[in-house]
Amino acid sequence: MAVPDKVLSNADLEKMVDTSDEWIRTRTGMVERRIVEKETAASDIAFKAIQKLLKSTKIKTKDIDLIIVATISSDHLFPSTACVIQKKLKIHPIPAFDISAGCTGFIYAITIAKQFIENGIIKNALVVGVEILSKITNWTDRNTCVLFGDGAGAALITRAKKSETSEIIDTYLSADGKYGDLLYMPAGGSRIPASEESVKKNLHTLRMEGNKIFKAAVKAMGNAATTILERNGLTGEDLDWLVPHQANLRIIDATARRIKLDSQKVIVNIEKYGNTSSATIPIAFAEAVEEGRIKKGDLVLFDAFGAGFTWGSILFRY
Ligand code: ACO
Repeated sequence: MAVPDKVLSNADLEKMVDTSDEWIRTRTGMVERRIVEKETAASDIAFKAIQKLLKSTKIKTKDIDLIIVATISSDHLFPSTACVIQKKLKIHPIPAFDISAGCTGFIYAITIAKQFIENGIIKNALVVGVEILSKITNWTDRNTCVLFGDGAGAALITRAKKSETSEIIDTYLSADGKYGDLLYMPAGGSRIPASEESVKKNLHTLRMEGNKIFKAAVKAMGNAATTILERNGLTGEDLDWLVPHQANLRIIDATARRIKLDSQKVIVNIEKYGNTSSATIPIAFAEAVEEGRIKKGDLVLFDAFGAGFTWGSILFRY
């Protein structure tokens, strides 16, 4: 994982909008978040995470067969950030593409990589979740600007040898587009291309109806967790770890309660990074592994909800 060095604390936000450290902590669990410098784009921070991944897995770039990047804050509308990353890594021609599934993006991307591996088409997929949300945030809107941060996580999804116990056991994806306008960015696409007016009206920043999303997220993340556990004959008690999307501590707590999981088994780092959308899960997972909390052989559940709406889960043995 990689995050920018610059820290934006709740105290800093108090000076920018009408908010308080107490409100942000009690309503969200967030204390600080990381923000990139002006010149940094998604592929830059993703590249840092990938370099750490390459070092720790000892995989060579020539062995990567597929690149999938989950992001809603790509370097450009096109080409894809996956192609930009391919160029930075100097990788020969292979498939590379981005997917847009909001905060569930990393779950979607891993699921796609898994299909390619199971179909026998590839062996090694580089899957990245990266966001520079600070550049699509309205810094005068206290309803949203306290929530988001920047960061990236990268994973290598690879074909296991028969003798290995590591395995993606199951994946579950869902979406319901009828709620799309509760969390979206109005301009910058073909519906409202960039214009003087779109900039003046601040339409190139995200809009969110937080309260409605909160309720939907609690329900959907709970459902994504119980569905995947039940269809594998498991309960929350069988899990070693839940690594949930870090959007709000109260949503995380509600999800853990729904599957009757002890809070000690839930990975939370929302206080340090806020909501980095598709990057929260790989960042939280990478930190938990580095800290020696999640160990080889542990049964882990990823669970996320995001713009679209989209939601999903991944059950795997690390
Ligand atoms: N500081 C102080 N007061 C605030 C702030 C703030 N930063 N933001 C909102 N308020 C006020 C509101 O104006 C409102 O005041 P009012 O009662 O006078 O109108 C009051 O606080 C309560 O607002 P609510 O929206 O009801 O507060 P809630 O408890 O729902 O918390 C929050 C808001 C934190 C946004 C919560 O709804 C939430 O976390 N929603 C989910 C966000 C999410 O999960 N996003 C996921 C997807 S993100 C992605 O895909 C990129």
